[in-house]
Amino acid sequence: MAVAPEARAWHELFAARTRAGAGDAIARILGYLGRPDLISFAGGFPDPATFPAERTAQAFRELAHAGDATAFQYAPTPGLAGTRDALASRLETLQGHRPAEGELLVTSGGIEALELVAKSFLERGDTAVVEGPTYLGAIMAFRGFEAEVVAVALDEDGLRVDELDALLAGGLRPKLLYTIPEFQNPAGVTLLLERRHALVELARRYGFLIVEDVAYRELSFDGSALPSLWSLAPDAVVQTGTTSKTFFPGVRLGWAVGPQEVVAQLTAAKQNTDQCAGALGQRLFEIYARRGWLDEQLERSRALYARRAERTLAALERTMPEGVTWTRPAGGFFTWVTLPVDADELAVRAVEQHGVAVVPGTPFYPDGRGGTNLRVSYSLVPEELIDVGIERLASLL
Ligand SMILES: Cc1ncc(COP(=O)(O)O)c(C=O)c1O
Repeated sequence: MAVAPEARAWHELFAARTRAGAGDAIARILGYLGRPDLISFAGGFPDPATFPAERTAQAFRELAHAGDATAFQYAPTPGLAGTRDALASRLETLQGHRPAEGELLVTSGGIEALELVAKSFLERGDTAVVEGPTYLGAIMAFRGFEAEVVAVALDEDGLRVDELDALLAGGLRPKLLYTIPEFQNPAGVTLLLERRHALVELARRYGFLIVEDVAYRELSFDGSALPSLWSLAPDAVVQTGTTSKTFFPGVRLGWAVGPQEVVAQLTAAKQNTDQCAGALGQRLFEIYARRGWLDEQLERSRALYARRAERTLAALERTMPEGVTWTRPAGGFFTWVTLPVDADELAVRAVEQHGVAVVPGTPFYPDGRGGTNLRVSYSLVPEELIDVGIERLASLL
């Protein structure tokens, strides 16, 4: 007799690689975002005030009226030629290095670029080094291919490259190292120039790939930028990027740029994930970038997030008791708070008693650390609610 559907235990059939774990935490964060009654410092989302609705509508109308089918058709797997050219020109302008033909792939968001890197490089038991703490989407991508994820500490100046050096000298042999050099998620810190040079030197000496995630790079508060790792070492780095924080996440667009052989492998891996990034988003982005609209939007976005950061840091300064510390971001969406008490418990009380959502630190580590940390994201909190939100958090300490 057939088994009734409700009696089936589907999880018994799930692949081992799906038991990576961090997924629940992301789901919880997304859950908080759906509740309008909360003051939410939880999600790393861009503010809808930055979304270019009118100009996107104009670009779409132009595409529709031009009789050009490319925006509506399947795209080549590496991306539309015009979009790749626009992206390459941006990289050249902003990072001083232009990818050659075959070195740039258009992806469906930054997360897909990481997934493609993981799929192309990692086998069960391989080692992937990350920063501790790091973006949990990356931990999930690497664990999804059953890699051992090892966290190396960071401080106010980014990844502790000296600690990595010691681990490598002690025999650690990672296939890849994942870093977010600017305005890191979740810690908000930026990798020092000297450490960039030292990291590149280690990658060349030990033969691992650096995966450089530049998700927040263009959102420095003062418009300045250090050399990207990819521009310093295009032979040893794959850079993954996203337009989610600078254009809008609804198009799901990003890129991977790196050595031609690596990009060819990522492109092959993409053929049986989604085959191509959505052509419509690619064309909209191309128009938006070429007309200088993206740069205009970036200026407004930087000013908006700078104001929010300033207000958040001032509120922390004013309200937090002795023993609480936090990082001072020069761009991006996050500050990383260290408490003298358990952060999980505080985060639960903050939501339940005060309607304030923050994310406790443990999901940002692959190894259970982060128990006294909170990620505070100011990107989506209305300015007038920042003070009261931080005051309520402080009142719990
Ligand atoms: C560091 C980092 N990388 C990548 C991503 C993913 O971006 P996308 O929306 O392009 O998938 C995010 C999004 O939060 C992020 O914080």
